[in-house]
Amino acid sequence: MTITRRTLLAGGAAGALAAGLLPNLPAFGAPADEDGYDLWLRYRLVANPDDLARYRTAFTHIVVSGNHAVLRSAGAELSRGLSALLGRSVPVTNQLGKGAVVVGVGDLAAESFTIKRRADRVEITGGDERGALYGAFRFLQHLQRHRPLSGLDIADRPASPLRMLNHWDNLNGSIERGYAGKSIFAWDELPGLRERYVDYARTIASVGVNNTVVNNVNASADFLRSERLTGLAALAGVLRQWGLRLWLSANYAAPITLTADRPSPVTVADPFDPGVQKWWQDKIDEIYRLIPDFGGFLVKANSEGQPGPLDYGRTHADGANMLADRLAPYGGRLVWRSFVHGGFSDWAQYEYNVFHPLDGQFHENAVVQTKNGPIDFQVREPVNPLFGGLPRTNQLVELEITQEYTGHSTQLCYLVPEWKTILGFPTYQGPGTGPTVADIVTGTAYQQHNVGMAGVVNLGDDRNWTGYQLGAANTHGFARLAWNPRLSADEIVTEWIELTFGLDQQVGSVLKAIMLQSWETYESYTSPLGMGYLTYPLGAHFRPDPNSTHNLSHYTTSEGTGFDRTAVFPQLYADHWRDVYASPDNCPDELLLFMHWVPYTHRLKSGKTVIQHIYDSHFAGYERVLEFRRAWGRLAGRVDQARYADIAATFDAHVVEAERWRDTIVSYFYGFSRILSTGAEWLQVEYPNRGLLIGGRANDLPLDITNAFRTSQTVATSVRPVDSSWKVGTTSVAIGSGASASITVPVTPPLVTELVDLAIDTGQTALGAAHQTFVVTPDAAQCHLALDIGTADSPLVPGYSRVSPSTTWDATRGYGWVGTAPQPRDRGSSWDALRRDFVGDYPARTFRITLPPGTVRLSALVGDGGPDCPPTIIAEAGKILATSSDLPGGVFTWIHADLDGGPTGRTADLVLDSEPDRFWHLGALVLT
Ligand code: GCU
Repeated sequence: MTITRRTLLAGGAAGALAAGLLPNLPAFGAPADEDGYDLWLRYRLVANPDDLARYRTAFTHIVVSGNHAVLRSAGAELSRGLSALLGRSVPVTNQLGKGAVVVGVGDLAAESFTIKRRADRVEITGGDERGALYGAFRFLQHLQRHRPLSGLDIADRPASPLRMLNHWDNLNGSIERGYAGKSIFAWDELPGLRERYVDYARTIASVGVNNTVVNNVNASADFLRSERLTGLAALAGVLRQWGLRLWLSANYAAPITLTADRPSPVTVADPFDPGVQKWWQDKIDEIYRLIPDFGGFLVKANSEGQPGPLDYGRTHADGANMLADRLAPYGGRLVWRSFVHGGFSDWAQYEYNVFHPLDGQFHENAVVQTKNGPIDFQVREPVNPLFGGLPRTNQLVELEITQEYTGHSTQLCYLVPEWKTILGFPTYQGPGTGPTVADIVTGTAYQQHNVGMAGVVNLGDDRNWTGYQLGAANTHGFARLAWNPRLSADEIVTEWIELTFGLDQQVGSVLKAIMLQSWETYESYTSPLGMGYLTYPLGAHFRPDPNSTHNLSHYTTSEGTGFDRTAVFPQLYADHWRDVYASPDNCPDELLLFMHWVPYTHRLKSGKTVIQHIYDSHFAGYERVLEFRRAWGRLAGRVDQARYADIAATFDAHVVEAERWRDTIVSYFYGFSRILSTGAEWLQVEYPNRGLLIGGRANDLPLDITNAFRTSQTVATSVRPVDSSWKVGTTSVAIGSGASASITVPVTPPLVTELVDLAIDTGQTALGAAHQTFVVTPDAAQCHLALDIGTADSPLVPGYSRVSPSTTWDATRGYGWVGTAPQPRDRGSSWDALRRDFVGDYPARTFRITLPPGTVRLSALVGDGGPDCPPTIIAEAGKILATSSDLPGGVFTWIHADLDGGPTGRTADLVLDSEPDRFWHLGALVLT
């Protein structure tokens, strides 16, 4: 589906964004502020008086038939929900009779339920307690959506047996790829429990999730320590009341790690070693003594540095079965991830080549969990060929709810439409079109029971749980698809909107149109034609950096672009797909550059050339984000002010990032191809020194300006001053069509240490002119000390003194390392002299400086032009002077402290450190 502005305005989803053109009339007065904490479990008083009256007569009390903890939860939730919806107490009693809502268990399939209206009561019946709980939530949702009571008769059951969340939460509270704060689990407080665990359990149970893995797949063995297990048992106890089984990610080398301090430690993790087997047996026995319904282990082995059976010459199946066999007697399962890659260039084939030969070798309670695509959750990938390649293996599809590669919590990207295309993909491995991914993971394809869906979840301890208000739609959507992959994206998003924002039709239609377009919109301004992986490979996976994956995910030259995978990759699919993917003429446009390298002038099925498509889609995608923001703006007054403003702020940030992507990708491909667009025309600005400015002095800021207009342009370039303390000049130059000019612009910033977003003003559309972050560092001549810290041979900021690991303390010089020096790093010439290199280390190191008399200000530059940068802590004499926060790769910060040199000056020993086992960074240090 491609939605253009025209189809939208012509009607589409109920008038779609055009509905935003209607006058601003709130439906029922201004709604009260909300913070998003309740997610879709908002039981707000039924606003329509007729509905309210009907509901009040129909439902007066709850009767729980049975005494199981999960049934009691169902009763409690019904009472809580109905009381709030009806604005009066609806208690749990044991009186049947008129107005009763009866919840219990009957003769139905496990986890299924029926909701039936009898003459004087409603009966919610589950095939088991879980089914009853799901029925209770569904009934409440029915009322939240003000659905009619006449003929209330619902029967439903989940399609997949395993509906699982994967938390990538660490012991220190951080979340790998988490964009919503810290972990909601306070590990060190356990067995102490937080109220929020109940809300967590209610929320995910309300959409049918039944299993949750609470810790990161990059697992710390510590989770399996006996001291931790009692605490985890308490958490499992909360989850159990909501029908949820707790799982743990297990580190395959846990037997080694956890016996290291014993007199006779286990020294290997070989699955065939009797000592290893005994260790796991004892551990599993111990776990089940504490957590009788423990779900099992999730294992990431021999992947990205994790230990595994391959270290001992065994296979993944050997490794998995050893654990599966020990979990089986307890009814536990073992989930083994297939996400392995032996090098970036062959990621796409690697998993298949490793796992396909093992098909049929995994035991019955072992499940292979496979990411939806062969790479890593890019916005568009072909469906992983392993789904067709493991017919005799239980499979889970792993989807990424957290938006690692799709905008974090800054850009709206509703993933249900993407997941629908994955689940609907026919493998052609059987008669007709062969089973789809949905058929495989629901067990209908090969009559399997240990199958389902796993979602890497986006929940954190932010008040709104998902970092931005609209992110919860992905959490909800994942669970609804795991329950029933046949639901349409439209049905799912409508349900989420009504539960989250109420029933205002304009909110519904506008927001639905935005949400349903957001995935393809994100794709259109980020990743052309299936290319993917255009962010720095080791970092935050957020901002565009196509250069860093040049010759890794794309082979861009002046002639063309893409990745020629025709030799092997298409052969991993059934004949149908092999024929489609192997030929550039048959390959669907959206995957062309994943499968093929083509010249820029290659014509797509759309009739456009590849290069023109890249330009047009990036410009159009950005425009659509602007439209999202405008459309949301017209809903003011229809959503409570707090959430309205929150979402408006998200769209503001979204626009900035979409612009950055558009500018980077379009400039990149124009830079290589030098083919002018037949549509939009533009200038593009590049920064030879990446934006380094010396504060308190005149700079000649170098800029490269390229003219991608079809005619020559006279360009008057200036810097938009941050405030009146900045002095700027203008430089004019004539640039021919398709030509570039290197100019300098006079800029004098104040004497500061700052990172500033500067806009370059060229008077016309100039890609890359906005949101460039400049680092301002003070003029060395006006500082007590100005140190450029890093490697021994990288370029220096003019006037600055070099500090490298070999700069040991020297009293005459007045600075240097005391004791062991840290390690140097250089991120290369795409960075300026200050930001390209730095020192850092895992252990703390000491840097001594001489302070002049009186008070001085110390400023330190922290950040990493490559991977993400953990906090850096600067302390003196046990007192913390300054700390930086976690920074994504490519983002820097100055941190400051005032130091007192006393009447005569003194030396100060600055201790540089990070959180335990994390790498601190230091790129510059100045005293002013
Ligand atoms: C991605 C992600 C990692 C994660 C890995 C995995 O590579 O960036 O943070 O650990 O996937 O799924 O194991």
